[in-house]
Amino acid sequence: MEHLMAVILAAGEGKRMKSKKSKVLHKVCGMTLIDWVYKSVKGAGVDETVVVVGHKAEDVKESMGDKVLYAYQDKQLGTGHAVMQAKEYFEGKEGEVLVLCGDTPLITSETISKTVEIHRKNNNSATIITAELENPAGYGRIVRDENNNVLKIVEDRDATEDEKNIKEINSGMYCFNIKDLERVLGELDNNNSQGEYYLTDTIEILIKKGLKVGAVKVDDSDEILGINDRVQLSMANEILRKRILTNHMKNGVTIIDPGNTYIDADVSIGMDTVIYPGSIIEGQTEIGEDCIIGPSSRIVGSKISKGVEVKNSVVLESSIEEDTSIGPFAYIRPGSVIGKKVKIGDFVEIKKSVIGDRTKISHLTYVGDAEVGTNVNLGCGVVVVNYDGKKKNKTKIGDNCFVGCNVNLISPVEVKNNAYIAAGSTITDEVPENSLAIARARQVVKEEWVTKKGMLRKD
Ligand code: UD1
Ligand code: CA
Repeated sequence: MEHLMAVILAAGEGKRMKSKKSKVLHKVCGMTLIDWVYKSVKGAGVDETVVVVGHKAEDVKESMGDKVLYAYQDKQLGTGHAVMQAKEYFEGKEGEVLVLCGDTPLITSETISKTVEIHRKNNNSATIITAELENPAGYGRIVRDENNNVLKIVEDRDATEDEKNIKEINSGMYCFNIKDLERVLGELDNNNSQGEYYLTDTIEILIKKGLKVGAVKVDDSDEILGINDRVQLSMANEILRKRILTNHMKNGVTIIDPGNTYIDADVSIGMDTVIYPGSIIEGQTEIGEDCIIGPSSRIVGSKISKGVEVKNSVVLESSIEEDTSIGPFAYIRPGSVIGKKVKIGDFVEIKKSVIGDRTKISHLTYVGDAEVGTNVNLGCGVVVVNYDGKKKNKTKIGDNCFVGCNVNLISPVEVKNNAYIAAGSTITDEVPENSLAIARARQVVKEEWVTKKGMLRKD
């Protein structure tokens, strides 16, 4: 098997982002720019990826972790110099190396695969991914001879007036034969307007050695969009957002208003789920089949099983099991596990709690740090008083319990199976199995008190 490697250049500073963060760590649709590039090379079957880091190297390494190898470029002396820093990883190997930039998140696996295929089929030494742009300003231009063969790439700043009129541009992405790239990298110099070692110069050097260089022009020039500032960041976000939504729709998800739905890259959604407008689904979220999400729900890093409804609600880092209904206006906070066929109604907040199957928490309730059994009913206005001013305490409610309206459960406290608690009680002690607890003052009625005291309110 031939070896396919990728080198992703990410040492540059990205000044135009006006950011404290490394440019390649800015996110679109929940994923960093460089991760989008990585995902595409991975999808094209790359065996090994080297990221050339420099500016904010530690941050990039921390974000990417050990799924890639790293080369370090101390000073940004140009794209050719950057590739030289990764040389130790491909030296002496057979096969191809792809070179891409960490700031081009729209490139697809399909385009990369197609480039590698054409590169191999034509026995090229290098194959450049190019695009035809109405406004090619700023990009390197592909200079071809009268027979349409690639001659060289000339940088915008070094181009003649004639060359500046060329509309075919260099995307900055290439497939190189490893051995041929190795041969010519050492021959690069920095005699140009920027005093940089241009990777683009390898093309002319290869051709002068009689080696073959090809080009693959992308059909959709969006694919080569490089992100330099926040305006381009938002453009990329829009394009990727649409791509993600289109994919889900093609897989059987109904999205009522794609213009008003935001789904991150790593979200999976089952067939026949309907997403209503204003929904934002982020992080590593998994949604099953036949769910109803929205309108206006935000779900982050959660697992939502089959048949669940999440209406006008927020669910964070939690798991919701089959056929459960959440909302409208519920807030499920991190670390919660909500069982099957549960009902969590309006203005209910659940924090770091386990709720058993078929339990109903229908309105105006707070449940924090609690374990609630199956088939429990928590009445309107129940509050689990989990915080004593110093620390959080746990509450446990068994199966089949009935907790009346406006009950306070002062944690730590335990309510055993099948118990009832009268409305308005403040529970401080354990409630035994099968019992009723009433913890409130008895009602006192003073007959004729109003008339005797002359307190009748006249209209
Ligand atoms: C480069 C190409 C140009 C192409 C354009 C496409 C060269 C000389 N020119 O120009 O033909 O049209 O990309 O966007 O290659 N980087 C490093 N170390 C360096 C220099 C750059 O890691 O020393 C990285 C940057 O972080 C960036 C990428 O390489 O991710 C491209 O560098 P940049 O300076 O933006 O290249 P351009 O001038 O845009
Ligand atoms: Ca440059």
